[in-house]
Amino acid sequence: MDEKELFEHINKIELRDGKERTIKSYVLRNNVISPKSAGIINRYMEKYGFFYQDAPLDYSALFGNDNPVVIEIGFGNGDTTAEVAIKRPEFNYIGIEVFLQGFVNLLGQLGDRAIENVRIIRFNAVDVLNHMIPDSSVEGFHIFFPDPWQKKRHHKRRLMNPEFLHLLARKIRKGGYIYMVTDWEEYAEEVLEFSADEPLLYNPFGGFAPPVTWRPVTKFEQKGMESEHPINEIWLEKPDFTV
Ligand SMILES: C[S@@+](CC[C@H](N)C(=O)[O-])C[C@H]1O[C@@H](n2cnc3c(N)ncnc32)[C@H](O)[C@@H]1O
Repeated sequence: MDEKELFEHINKIELRDGKERTIKSYVLRNNVISPKSAGIINRYMEKYGFFYQDAPLDYSALFGNDNPVVIEIGFGNGDTTAEVAIKRPEFNYIGIEVFLQGFVNLLGQLGDRAIENVRIIRFNAVDVLNHMIPDSSVEGFHIFFPDPWQKKRHHKRRLMNPEFLHLLARKIRKGGYIYMVTDWEEYAEEVLEFSADEPLLYNPFGGFAPPVTWRPVTKFEQKGMESEHPINEIWLEKPDFTV
C-alpha cells in the first residue's frame, strides 16, 4: 500500500460516509496527519495496526499466538493500554480508538517499546464489534472513562447503553468480563442499574467493584480526580451457565 492509500485508510473511521445523521459517541477534531505522525504510521502501521474489513478477525494471524483477547474501547492517548499490556502479558489486546493523535501516540509507543501483545485500529468501535469480532470470542472488554456526555440532551450519545452492553456481552466468552471505570457518578449509577437487567451478565460485587491492581491512572481519570470526582469501577461477568 502506498502512503496516500495508507493515510486514506487511516482517515476512514466509520462505515457510513458522514452524510447520514447517526448518533455517535465521539466527536472528531482533527484529521490532519502531521509529518511526525506520518513517520510513525509508515514505520509501525503494518506490524501494530490493522484496518476495518467486513469479515471476522483471525486473532491467531493478527498476534501470532492463541492467547486470550481483551479489547479496549476508546483508549485515548493509549498510555494505559501500553502499561496494562506490559503488566498482563498473558493476554493479547486490541485497542479501538477514533482520535487520530491518540492512535498515533499508541502506535509509536508499541513500536518504540516493542510491545508485542497489542494491535490497534482507528475505527468506530460499534462497527468493529458488529462486523469483525465473532460472538463468544473475547476474554474481556476495557472501557476506561468513556465520554460522559454530561448534558441531558446528549445522554443518547453515551457509548454505554443497554443495547451496547448486550453487544459486549454477546462478544465475550463464558467466564469473560466487562470492566468499565468512570468519574461521572450519574453515568456509573445508570450503567450499574441497567446492567442488572442484562440476562447474559452478572455482577459478582453486587454494586461497584474494588479497583484492580494492574490499571494505572488514565489521563482522563487524572482530570476527574483533579475535579474531585469519585472514581467508580464496574466489573461484570458472563457466567459459565449462560448460552
Ligand atoms: C474521555 S476519553 C477517555 C480516554 C482514555 N480511556 C482515558 O481514560 O484517558 C474517551 C475516548 O473514547 C473514544 N471513543 C468514543 N466513542 C468511540 C467509538 N465509538 N469508537 C472508538 N472510540 C471511541 C474517544 O475518541 C475518546 O478518545
